[in-house]
Amino acid sequence: MTDPASIGRQPEWLGPESSSLVRRDAAAFLHQVGSTPVVSALRAVEGIWLEDADGRRIMDLHGNSCHNLGYAHPRVIAALKAQLDTLAFCPRRFTNDPATALAERLASLWPYGSARVLFGTSGTDAIEMAVKLAYVATGRKTTLAFEDTWHGAALGALWIGGRAAERQGFPQFQGCWHVPPYWRRATGTLAGEAAAMACLQAVKDLFDRCGGFAAFLAEPVRSTPHVPPDWFWPEIRELCDQTGTLLIFDEVATGLGKTGCLFTSEHFSVRPDITVLGKSLGGGVVPLSAVIARADLNVAGRLAIGHYTHEKNPLLAAAGLVTLAVLEGEGLVARSRELGADALNRLSRMAQDSALLCGANGLGLLMSLELDASARSMAALIERDCLRRGVNLTASEGRFLTLSPPLVIEAAELMEAIDIVAASVGSKEL
Ligand SMILES: Cc1ncc(COP(=O)(O)O)c(C=O)c1O
Repeated sequence: MTDPASIGRQPEWLGPESSSLVRRDAAAFLHQVGSTPVVSALRAVEGIWLEDADGRRIMDLHGNSCHNLGYAHPRVIAALKAQLDTLAFCPRRFTNDPATALAERLASLWPYGSARVLFGTSGTDAIEMAVKLAYVATGRKTTLAFEDTWHGAALGALWIGGRAAERQGFPQFQGCWHVPPYWRRATGTLAGEAAAMACLQAVKDLFDRCGGFAAFLAEPVRSTPHVPPDWFWPEIRELCDQTGTLLIFDEVATGLGKTGCLFTSEHFSVRPDITVLGKSLGGGVVPLSAVIARADLNVAGRLAIGHYTHEKNPLLAAAGLVTLAVLEGEGLVARSRELGADALNRLSRMAQDSALLCGANGLGLLMSLELDASARSMAALIERDCLRRGVNLTASEGRFLTLSPPLVIEAAELMEAIDIVAASVGSKEL
């Protein structure tokens, strides 16, 4: 039996089926931060909706960034069923049409010239493939990334990413450098342009000290979100060019239309050497990730860069192909831009009117509200209260409420979700 104390106090709105599953989950899984114990249990997902094991419906404005198309999109489900009936698996040393077609399609959509592709099943796999490729291509063994960033849970990705707390207790991976990010000064205060300039200077100092790296790895827009000034990435690109450092953009959470461009890098007119995709690439159904690299980085043919069992799995590839087709066919990238602009206006007005909020940020359908310094202890409280009221969002960095709805959300549904968030924030003002 699981000790009830180990799963914490369950919320009073949790129904009996969900509550029972939460307990079984806590007894069956090894516990780890963010995964077990869980807040509730699901029995169905569709479109923007989660349905818990007792039939309670929740709008999902988080979705682990996997639900750009919403859940169980009919075209995705149909494509997967059809693929299961034709070719359900492909062992390594063989290839197949869906995997090859997806590699060709991604290379043709990448706006930065001729490209080649590798597939994995998780964002972590793809990040590690990208970094391995950079090691081989440059002959260097060092990486630079922002502090407080997440690029995956494997030993390499944990150290290459910048979240120190998650690596406690694991052996150190060598050659990983980190710099305070463009969205905060070393002192920890947010300061827009000034923070970005301080960050750029810190990056320049590290480039001077180290003479360059195998790769600079970053999300082009931090998925909280934090949007850099327009000049930031062009400056970094130039530093990379001067030192032979490869620029890897991690678009695992922000790619595939979430920010209003198919690739978030397109907002900044900066060409990465490698782009990493994941999460929503599997259509919100299956795990799929991809590395899209400059074609001339095809330099590691004798090594196992991403020799994964499921690298050319036709079922996963079929999900990727139909995801790209739905994004295009339903105009979801433009929709993200338009709906996101309206929603950000609304969130900005909300921030002006609330004593607890001090700002709103966003690009496309990736948005956040920032809690005032006096209200930061409330982020997790508001996250839980929104869940009780029927909206799943994330409290990020202890002071942001991140809203990342599916691109298929109706305008009225999005406004309804924001109304619920406003009511929750308002209830804490009293
Ligand atoms: C920006 C970013 N990169 C990489 C990853 C790792 O992806 P996965 O959990 O699929 O391994 C994540 C996961 O949250 C992420 O947000």
